[in-house]
Amino acid sequence: MTLTVLVAYKTRSTMLDKLIYIETFGCQMNVNDSERIVSMLAELGYAPTNDPATADMILLNTCSVRGGAEEKVYRRLANLRIYKRDGKKQIIAVGGCVAQQEGEELLRKLPYLDLVIGTHNLHLLPDMVIGAEHGERRSETTFIDNEQRLDLFPSIKGESRLSRFVTVMQGCDNFCSYCIVPFVRGREISRRSKDILTEVRQLADDGVREVILLGQNVNSYGSKIDYEPTFAELIQQVAEIKGIDRIRFTTSHPKDMSDDLIACFGNVPKLSGQIHLPAQSGSDAVLSLMGRGYTRNSYLEKICKLKTIRPDIVVTGDIIVGFPGESDADFEQSLSLMEEVRYIDLFSFVYSPRPGTKAAKLHDDLPRTLKMSRLDQLMELQRRITREISQTYIGSIMNVLAEGEGKLPGQISGKADIGRIVNFTGDVSMIGSFIDVKITKAYPNSLLGELYK
Ligand code: SAH
Ligand code: SF4
Ligand code: F3S
Repeated sequence: MTLTVLVAYKTRSTMLDKLIYIETFGCQMNVNDSERIVSMLAELGYAPTNDPATADMILLNTCSVRGGAEEKVYRRLANLRIYKRDGKKQIIAVGGCVAQQEGEELLRKLPYLDLVIGTHNLHLLPDMVIGAEHGERRSETTFIDNEQRLDLFPSIKGESRLSRFVTVMQGCDNFCSYCIVPFVRGREISRRSKDILTEVRQLADDGVREVILLGQNVNSYGSKIDYEPTFAELIQQVAEIKGIDRIRFTTSHPKDMSDDLIACFGNVPKLSGQIHLPAQSGSDAVLSLMGRGYTRNSYLEKICKLKTIRPDIVVTGDIIVGFPGESDADFEQSLSLMEEVRYIDLFSFVYSPRPGTKAAKLHDDLPRTLKMSRLDQLMELQRRITREISQTYIGSIMNVLAEGEGKLPGQISGKADIGRIVNFTGDVSMIGSFIDVKITKAYPNSLLGELYK
């Protein structure tokens, strides 16, 4: 995934006379961090560019959730390095989860690399970049696993957009047996609700219409501190803010999906009708080995409650195939879970052992060909389900936040309440408003529509 920077800069005191090229991999935490980096470095005079050749600084914001991540970074850096050879000083930096995992080792292995910036150290980046402009190489990957992290967390300034992420918590304490995230993002810390609400109010004043509450496990928000609201209460408080008309959140863990949070889908009209609720597997045996803390039935019960409270809710999810010991019957259980839930979209992954995780000690016993054929089967099923659900939208009216011009002339593009991209014939004066659109056609990843009068 490469970051597309849709940034409208307001006037700044600094001239933007240098260029930064960022490539972002992995999850929305990284996408959001890249936005943060763009905002911080604007203070030093860097403007984003899509062309690495002309950039004064290149930064890879990396993900290490699956194996081969380090090699991928080395390969990409080797490719990008050609731009550094024409004699021009160009700062090369690695951030994100591979940076956190590898630290100084990256500087040792790659003599042309200038900076390595860990996931808790973004506040140091401006200082590091100033040093690098004078030839200093530096790696900063110290974890800050206490509340100080919250105070050091840089905010995003000087941008105006219609939809914005708002971090509510960072890190993860779940230690699912396959997952590296707790090792590269550190302990779970919830932001203070008063800071979150102040940020959302400010965004509303700046014209933002939709906020996406962000974290690795948002629905455990506040559960480890008794003076903060629960996640359900936080959503209600955000919903009271004038100007914000739609709220989304990602990602949630099924075990922390409380009845109160489920109830929000019925009693908070601003809450979007889409939820990302990764199951990872449909088999109890595999779920138990994964350490997920729920069973197939308890997961399905939560889906059932959600659908009872909001019958038109759409669910997206993640499933891993080929976990050590996954039998044909276990895999069949994942397929049947997909049929029962009827995800509109599914992110599917082949299990990949990660160093230091519990599952890495299990014998990774399934042949690669079997894992790949399971993945193909699963994706095939998902394509069918997505198609079937999408077809049911034809003729329906969706409320769409018009976010920008579409690819075709005279077309406006936006997002429906259920999170699908909708393109429709309209004009630019609609951008920034919620528009009723009648759906006329369904594509695999988007919908087409016309104005509904
Ligand atoms: N916090 C999020 C997920 C973060 S990682 C959550 O719990 O929902 C995103 C996805 O990557 C996970 O949901 C999982 O499906 C996948 N993933 C994580 N570790 C993996 C591994 N070792 N091999 C394959 N897929 C993995
Ligand atoms: Fe990884 Fe599990 Fe935490 Fe998600 S909840 S980030 S899958 S450890
Ligand atoms: Fe990847 Fe790090 Fe996110 S490992 S999934 S970028 S938290």
